[in-house]
Amino acid sequence: MRFILLTALCFGATTWAQLSAVTSFLATEGPIAKVGLLANIGGSGSKSAGVKAGIVIASPSKSSPDYFYTWTRDSSLVFKAVIDSFVRGEDASLRTQIDQYVASQAVQQQVSNPSGTVSSGGLGEPKFNVDLSAFTGGWGRPQRDGPALRATALIAYGNWLIANSNTTFALSTIWPIVKLDLDYVASNWNQTGFDLWEEVNSSSFFTTAVQHRALREGAAFATKLGQTSVVSGYTSQATNTLCFLQSYWNPTAGYVTANTGGGRSGKDANTALASLHTFDPSAGCDAATFQPCSDKALSSLKVYVDSFRSIYTVNSGIAATDAVATGRYPEDSYYGGNPWYLTTLAVAEQLYDALTVWKAQGSLNVTAVSLPFFQQFNSTIAVGTYPSTSAIFTTLTTAVYNFADSFVAVVQKYTPSGGALAEQYTRAAGVPTSAADLTWSYASVLTAAAARNGLTGDSWGAKGLVVPSSCSTSGSGSGSGSSGTVAVTFNVVATTVYGENIYLTGSVDALQNWSPTNAMILSPANYPTWSITVNLPANSAIQYKYIRKYNGATTWLADPNNQLSTGASGAATVNDQWR
Ligand code: NOJ
Ligand code: NOJ
Repeated sequence: MRFILLTALCFGATTWAQLSAVTSFLATEGPIAKVGLLANIGGSGSKSAGVKAGIVIASPSKSSPDYFYTWTRDSSLVFKAVIDSFVRGEDASLRTQIDQYVASQAVQQQVSNPSGTVSSGGLGEPKFNVDLSAFTGGWGRPQRDGPALRATALIAYGNWLIANSNTTFALSTIWPIVKLDLDYVASNWNQTGFDLWEEVNSSSFFTTAVQHRALREGAAFATKLGQTSVVSGYTSQATNTLCFLQSYWNPTAGYVTANTGGGRSGKDANTALASLHTFDPSAGCDAATFQPCSDKALSSLKVYVDSFRSIYTVNSGIAATDAVATGRYPEDSYYGGNPWYLTTLAVAEQLYDALTVWKAQGSLNVTAVSLPFFQQFNSTIAVGTYPSTSAIFTTLTTAVYNFADSFVAVVQKYTPSGGALAEQYTRAAGVPTSAADLTWSYASVLTAAAARNGLTGDSWGAKGLVVPSSCSTSGSGSGSGSSGTVAVTFNVVATTVYGENIYLTGSVDALQNWSPTNAMILSPANYPTWSITVNLPANSAIQYKYIRKYNGATTWLADPNNQLSTGASGAATVNDQWR
């Protein structure tokens, strides 16, 4: 707020009018977006009759298009926004929905579906029916961003729980869900799948970027919870993923190519969305992780925005350096190929995040790569580092702020008077089209408004990362399906009292070598059956036991040890009873 007033005073009446119009739009639209978002969550949502508690529908629209399903991507992004708001103390009542979301995801993970079972690739399934049964129709599957995005949302909540004296819940309930997702990411990040728009089957920048983030923060989260056995596997796969991430950058054209396949220009909102959903406020303008203020992300943003200037009628007559309506990618033809509310807001959000970092670090760096981006605002700007005390810093940050606001103003212009947000607004007339009340559209208003106020999510470990000089692309050893391992799911029926948990340990490293302290906690998602999936060495005879822990007391399963033999590869299940 202080920044708005300051720039308004310095830069006169026109600026003030524009800024206050955006401020007042967001003041009205923000609460509408929040109500619209919550209406689409089962349990209490007014537009979610028949939807399981905690489950997010993409939209209440049941035809043209039918979006009355739950997508793991949309749900995770929506709940990340809800959790960040809760963590900032904005609305304590959100905890009800958050806890229902957590419970719902533990169940959803176990639903066998056309992509597989929980231990054979099922976590890559993009969408489910609202009663959590599998959607069995044809679809672009798998989509491998979902497990990473869900892990990121849940880790944000888990870190809050740890900081607020509820490590027990984080360990017994959040961790088992996160571990399944991260094991999937660690094993599958180098496999192709469908992109976030569910069309191109290849590798995709957004997917790789969010996978990197999830593995990185997952290793730190595991460490905090004492789950040390996974840390080196997650960390080494994070480094491999970061290495691969660099390959999407196109140095001659100055932008990130969204997909390795697809035969398109590769100019895509994919890249701006990746920057803002992997924003780490402590990482500065690091280009290796494509932070919002990095030269690569800014250059890419300009190329992406410019690709819509001449193709949408709603953008005609707009000056080459002013904000325009933007869509998923210029070649898009879905519903005729239109601008989307969430992609236009993503441009603004990336820029607000960039401003937050420049102000915090007290300087702004213009490189040869970001020069075209900055020259939009002043054609005489040169490469250099401009401290916050300089006139150029003030000029550029003010211009970027106004530019960002202008994208919000585009959304404002095409938002109907009641404030409802569909998925798209038409390229010819700017009228809402495709799915009405898109939950992700509403979330994008809330995250852009928060970013405009300088609010951020937590850091996730992007600071100071080093990209290896040569990349390794083999998923090694930390997830299901890795070579030389068998993904064994342990199920044990055990009745417990509240606060009591079931753990597993055994005769090999992957089972923590008979350590009761480091034994691995099982998930009670299917109570009284407790479960965990662990990658065990192939072709091995292995002994194991379950442990109960309650109030500091440890009770072992009665003798003798349980025993299993793994095959050459694949997955296996053992079903045991407590005794
Ligand atoms: C439905 C998907 O949700 C959308 O992203 C895609 O553009 C269309 N199918 C066309 O493939
Ligand atoms: C189509 C979009 O392309 C995709 O990203 C989204 O997950 C679904 N619609 C549901 O909103």
